[in-house]
Amino acid sequence: MRGIAVLRELTEAGGTLSLSGLERSTGLARSTVDRITATLARMGYVRVDGRDVHLAPRLMELGNAYLAALRLPALLSARADALADELDESVSLAVADRDGIRFIHQATRRRAMSLSFRIGDLLPAERTAPGPLFATEWTDTDWQRWRTRRAADPRDLSFTAVPPRTHGADARYDEDFVRRAREASENGWALDDQLIEPGLVAVAVPVRAPYPAAGTGRDRDRIACVASVVSHTSRHTAHSLRTTLLPRLRAAVAEMEQDLRRTPPPEPGPRPADLALWTGASKLQLGRDFIESLARGLTVLTAFGESRPELTLTEVAQATGLARATARRALITYAHLDLVTSPTPRTFTLTPRVLSLGFPPLSRTSLPEIAQPHLADLTSRIHESTSLAVLSDSREEIQYTARMATGRVMSVNITVGTRLPAHATAPGRVLLADAPPRTPTPGDPHALLKDLSTIRSQGYALLDEELEEGLRSLAVPIRDRSGRVVAALNTAMHASRHTLDECVTDLLPALTATATKIEQDLHTAGRFTHVPLT
Ligand code: PHB
Repeated sequence: MRGIAVLRELTEAGGTLSLSGLERSTGLARSTVDRITATLARMGYVRVDGRDVHLAPRLMELGNAYLAALRLPALLSARADALADELDESVSLAVADRDGIRFIHQATRRRAMSLSFRIGDLLPAERTAPGPLFATEWTDTDWQRWRTRRAADPRDLSFTAVPPRTHGADARYDEDFVRRAREASENGWALDDQLIEPGLVAVAVPVRAPYPAAGTGRDRDRIACVASVVSHTSRHTAHSLRTTLLPRLRAAVAEMEQDLRRTPPPEPGPRPADLALWTGASKLQLGRDFIESLARGLTVLTAFGESRPELTLTEVAQATGLARATARRALITYAHLDLVTSPTPRTFTLTPRVLSLGFPPLSRTSLPEIAQPHLADLTSRIHESTSLAVLSDSREEIQYTARMATGRVMSVNITVGTRLPAHATAPGRVLLADAPPRTPTPGDPHALLKDLSTIRSQGYALLDEELEEGLRSLAVPIRDRSGRVVAALNTAMHASRHTLDECVTDLLPALTATATKIEQDLHTAGRFTHVPLT
């Protein structure tokens, strides 16, 4: 539970806190904070950099487990994205999280006017368009919980993703929500007329799907998630959203519902096994600094997934390799923290709250940010400057997007943002090799094409004194989840430092190993979010 508290505080703080900041915000002893962060660092979930602790992309595998088990992002996000393109407005998908709503997908238009929410952000139901729709399914207990929360936190200070309320506990606003829920049940849609902040307006429609109705052996339609179109008062009033965009939102939702009804249940995938066995080895190496119960517990969350949305205790124990008693303890702890729930007396599922473990800040991580710590590691190992580069839209130039320099002075002065002709650089050729250029390039085009095909088959480019006398550079590709080369990892050095052979025997393995680590992070981060390449 204390490990979870550390992850939550780091998330609320935007992804980074100092060790003493963590000590203050969690109220834990420094020695406990140290052991927890050492354990999380060992798992690849945080990175400790001097006195600062940063959330690491690998942590997104927990939220990914929830989103994969839920299946809705995989099944619906393409339609949400298409609707956002069609309307040129942001479209989001949200699920209910007790008396709040939590985003599971965002198709965001880049507009500076209002804040935009991240996947995993939690909003108070009554200040959103989806909230009244979810409230149509609330029981008396749910309404009571909501009233208790309103009384305890009148200004919404516990919802760090939204600005605090200015009008506090005014009873009028709460009665307003009761009325909005009633209207939502009659209308089948709901509005948010600047309830979060001035200017922000939204219209929402529920996406229904059949669920087994308890005790009847039959299915009943329930709200699986809510789709919203979000705009700004400079383009739409709440009223004009309803009259102009609601019909198109409804049409898209009807298609989503059809997709959900037509989709067969997930294929039984390969059963994971021994997910948690590595924790014993880490305990041996790190001794008392490694908290095995924390590592085992978090691994339990990764036992869930697309073909494994609902597991019994036995299945969790089998997937993790943990003793039943250990798996049971973890599940009970997480049920207590609302991270897992029991839809039936014998089974467990993950809850949307799993997204509160790092997902919102990490869902905004760009490829250069993902790469930076790996470049630092690589540079300290090979003692040469390293960098990341992407191809420009014209495909004629490369642009450096991340860089870790050594102290050594290089003749070519490269910084982040520097552009160079693609064909004359090793990273450029690695990028061009994935999709050969259609436009003529200077020099001998036949020689270049032949070189690109060699680079494609050997998996690296080594360029000698092409751009400048005395400069040698070596680059390898970085591929996204689909296998497309999206960036190149590169090291450049003075020709006197390594022979060409040494570049291949000494530097290439280190470069390739680093590229693999960057790709692993990119693939974890990119499973349900869009990772910007620059
Ligand atoms: C959003 O997706 O950002 C959003 C959705 C519904 C709201 C407000 C914001 O009511």
